[in-house]
Amino acid sequence: MCGIVGYIGNRNAFPILIKGLKRLEYRGYESAGVAIYSKEINTDKEAGKVADLERVAEGQDQGGTLGIGHTRWANHGEPNYKNSHPHYSENKRIVLIHNGIIENYASIKAEMIKRGYVFNSDTDTEALVHLIDEIQKNEKCELDEAVRLALNEVTGAYAIAVFSKDNPDRLIGARKGSPLVVGIGDKEFFLASDASPIIEYTKNVIYLDDEEMAIMDRDGNITVKTIQNVVKTPYIQELELKLEAIEKGGYEHFMLKEIHEQPKSIFDSVRGRLDAIKGIVRLGGMSEYENRILKADRIIIIACGTSWHAGLVAEYLFEDLARVLVEVEYALEFRYRNPVLSEKDVVIAISQSGETADTLAAMELAKSKGCLVLGVCNVVGSSIPRMSHAGCYTHAGPEIGVASTKAFTAQVSVLTLMALWMAHKKGTISDGRFREIATELENIPSKIQKTLEHCDAQVKYISEILKDSNNFLYLGRGYNFPVALEGALKLKEISYIHAEGYPAAEMKHGPIALIDAEMPVVVIANNQSAYEKIISNIQEVIARKGRVLAIVSEDDVIIEGMAEFTIKVPQTEECLSPLLSTIPLQLLSYYIATMRGCNVDQPRNLAKSVTVE
Ligand code: F6R
Repeated sequence: MCGIVGYIGNRNAFPILIKGLKRLEYRGYESAGVAIYSKEINTDKEAGKVADLERVAEGQDQGGTLGIGHTRWANHGEPNYKNSHPHYSENKRIVLIHNGIIENYASIKAEMIKRGYVFNSDTDTEALVHLIDEIQKNEKCELDEAVRLALNEVTGAYAIAVFSKDNPDRLIGARKGSPLVVGIGDKEFFLASDASPIIEYTKNVIYLDDEEMAIMDRDGNITVKTIQNVVKTPYIQELELKLEAIEKGGYEHFMLKEIHEQPKSIFDSVRGRLDAIKGIVRLGGMSEYENRILKADRIIIIACGTSWHAGLVAEYLFEDLARVLVEVEYALEFRYRNPVLSEKDVVIAISQSGETADTLAAMELAKSKGCLVLGVCNVVGSSIPRMSHAGCYTHAGPEIGVASTKAFTAQVSVLTLMALWMAHKKGTISDGRFREIATELENIPSKIQKTLEHCDAQVKYISEILKDSNNFLYLGRGYNFPVALEGALKLKEISYIHAEGYPAAEMKHGPIALIDAEMPVVVIANNQSAYEKIISNIQEVIARKGRVLAIVSEDDVIIEGMAEFTIKVPQTEECLSPLLSTIPLQLLSYYIATMRGCNVDQPRNLAKSVTVE
């Protein structure tokens, strides 16, 4: 939800900001703007993409070396020019960009209006910049002190970058609930919502903690302190991120690149943690809490969206293999329904970005009730791993396409490792069975590679035929029920086609009424168990003239003879089958969306990192 960048140093700020905003565009792309100091503060903003802003600003770059930039996902106020960031205080003295929500903005705004301030936008952000201005005037203090005092008066979430024309040698950043990284160069500093805008200039970064602010001067000095005014010794980390990882690498879209990266991302997520020959799973992050995890009464999984679907697969895995009770919860529902929790519960929070506000709030609640909270997260150093007691990273690498693909399969792989680890330690599966599943998990990357090579052209062909449908139904059973949900989510979010996922057997309780000759029904049928039952479900669809696209195992001959289309995936252990059946569904949504002319990497109304409630 919104990307922010800032720069102070000796270089020309404009190209740094524009390039940075393009990298952060996955966080929001409804409007963009920059403010640069060059004798005075000059602003360019535009509703639309960063490329639109770049066009508008062409030729206007006056070479300032201090600046801030913003790409917006609108929460307060339409995504138009007046609501685009940056926002100013009176007389364009202070300029500010913001990611997050100032929850008490209405009361601050009312007070500021009473004191004579004029508002030019519908945003919550503008209330903050006027508040800072008012405090600085009243207290006659430096800008950083005014920012600190103002942040003590706001509730909600923020990552901000701010400067004033009264002191163009200073840039200030602060965060609470929304991420902010400081890059440290030679007498220059960068600010950004993640490290991607910083990586080509410096590898040295500080991840600010909640309620921390960074005050950076042009002469190379930086002070990190809390908004309670406690000065901190900054922990400078070296970035491991590589530039290639955030570029398209010859693919037309990030989504397609990320779909094709799955053999590697799963390999990287499993590597060093599993030895099928020796029969070992090593999860260093969890060993400290081994006793507590193995004795858990219940595992509660909290997540949102695609990560929630990975959690559903995990429910099958943990119950099936480790014989432990599992509940999977939408993070926000969990948070607001007064759940019964105890110290014997283990909570697993799953998140690609590590910044999802709903998941963070649910974790906070679980921690306050004494639960052990484990994180499964893709972004190193993000808020969710920092808030967890322990956990496991997925090593999928940066996921930039807004629709999650490789993060999902990496999550499922890591959750499989966790379930295997627990099952092995508890003795709920035999050593032989453990080795069978472990060996097969090691084979999954090459089977995904095979799936990608074999089904790409076929999926493209099917997409051409089905692309004009208005609705799709996705059906799956057991381990592949969550895959049906995930397939439907992928299609709707990037092609804007209405799609629903259902347990196949549930179809007769309602959705069957939708089936006619216009309705493609995607049936995930590569499970070995319940195979006959899936065939019955397919027959029920065919009897009503529905168009069946079935995902089947490579040895299948029966369904092939029934369904209008079949896509074959390699055979595998049933508990690992979601890792293969997901692949053609990702490609199906990708090809249908591109054939319909949709922007697959930046679908409308969405943002990759949902840092607001
Ligand atoms: C769907 C998608 C979203 C995210 C959800 C949670 O393709 O990307 O549904 O899965 O917003 O995000 P994370 O995993 O970052 O917590």
